[in-house]
Amino acid sequence: VAVTAYIVRRRMRCANGRVKAMEIVKDFEEDCATSYSKLKHVADAMTVEMHAGLASEGGSKLKMLISYVDNLPTGDEKGLFYALDLGGTNFRVLRVQLGGRDGRIVNQEFVEVSIPPNLMVKSTDALFDYIATELAKFVAKEGPGFHLPPGRQRELGFTFSFPVMQTSINSGNLIKWTKGFSIDDTIGRDVVAELTKAIERKGVDMRVSALVNDTIGTLAGGRYFNDDVVVAVILGTGSNAAYVERAQAIPKWQGLLPKSGDMVINMEWGNFRSSHLPLTEYDRAMDIDSLNPGEQIFEKLVSGMYLGEILRRVLLRMAEEAAFFGATVPPKLKIPFILRTPDMSSMHHDTSVNLKVVGIKMKEILGISDTPLKMRKIVVQLCNIVATRGARLAAAAIFGVLKKMGRDTVRPGEKQKTVIAMDGGLFEHYSEYSKCLENTLRELVGEQVSESLFIEHANDGSGIGAALLAASHSQYIGVEES
Ligand code: GLC
Repeated sequence: VAVTAYIVRRRMRCANGRVKAMEIVKDFEEDCATSYSKLKHVADAMTVEMHAGLASEGGSKLKMLISYVDNLPTGDEKGLFYALDLGGTNFRVLRVQLGGRDGRIVNQEFVEVSIPPNLMVKSTDALFDYIATELAKFVAKEGPGFHLPPGRQRELGFTFSFPVMQTSINSGNLIKWTKGFSIDDTIGRDVVAELTKAIERKGVDMRVSALVNDTIGTLAGGRYFNDDVVVAVILGTGSNAAYVERAQAIPKWQGLLPKSGDMVINMEWGNFRSSHLPLTEYDRAMDIDSLNPGEQIFEKLVSGMYLGEILRRVLLRMAEEAAFFGATVPPKLKIPFILRTPDMSSMHHDTSVNLKVVGIKMKEILGISDTPLKMRKIVVQLCNIVATRGARLAAAAIFGVLKKMGRDTVRPGEKQKTVIAMDGGLFEHYSEYSKCLENTLRELVGEQVSESLFIEHANDGSGIGAALLAASHSQYIGVEES
């Protein structure tokens, strides 16, 4: 058991008993430091845990889940397929008409629906009924440009972005919820069976042919367009990665050796933990207050659900202990999760001379109207500390994966490219974060490897990826189109 020394600081107090706000900032910055050598340690720890997770079930905090995907899309996939993408605050339903090698994606349509927050913590049936209702509405509106051969059942790829112990390509039991979902009666149940029952209750005739994590979907979607994609990373509400492993390097895999020799692994790296992670008192307190204390520690440092909340906690401490916002603590600042990462991002990216955006956000979100420029600058500085730590740790984690894959070195004469498909709102919209991540990763791998390393934004690849995997696992494979 790793024991991390936890130092409670005694800050210098002023004559009136208050500490100085800048001391809180300075301490926080120190605690968040991610030196080059620390990142190397984090990457090494990631590699070690990957080995342990592959060796045996429960061998590591990293679950290294077997996806049952041993072949990634080739481009030959053909026909009409549906996908359902559930994993954050929204879910998406889409249909794609795949045209095979020459046609590729002939047509696609989707709808995005937000999930009412109460359904994230209510019951399995309530959640799946809600989803199935939207799916039924969507199916009912199938327009021209989509073609299902007569007599065929519709098929669906289900992207379910939570840890699932798969029992086949289209079945698997939920291990636990993450990211603000918490419905006790789903744990241990087969989510495909639950979805299928809900779909039947809504009178839709549809079969789930593939169950995939969003990382697996993104890998599949990325590979469809680029043969060199071997890793997928999600940086959104949560964070996770998937990569192509050699089946022989998975001691816990009991099944037959796949023809391809490969097996895609869903790492569930959000649950990674190491004594090398720079955890602060704010992170510990946020974890204790969270829906899943002690779980998803890495995710809580790097992903979109939590960055804004960490910032709020630091600001609250400054208000309480250093009267940063005046004699009274702004009441709104006490509300958990009120400061969302997208708002933190707009403050961080504020380029106006007076940091106008920071002023507006502080007023709108926290009800703080008097924010002198000096104060706004400190807020931006805090955004930078939180985002930089997250981005650099995410880069270290990717470096760990590349090491495990043996792609952290280039052999002489080798021309192998490594492409990482990335997706998620944090990666897409928080450019200070993504820039820092990419720079740090390039620094970690070194110049030579960097030349053959490509980061691609796989825009909503996970939905398309799920549809592609539904196609390659269709019940009609080998059946001639009538
Ligand atoms: C959480 C989920 C994981 C998912 C990730 C990104 O970490 O547990 O399954 O891939 O979020 O959505």
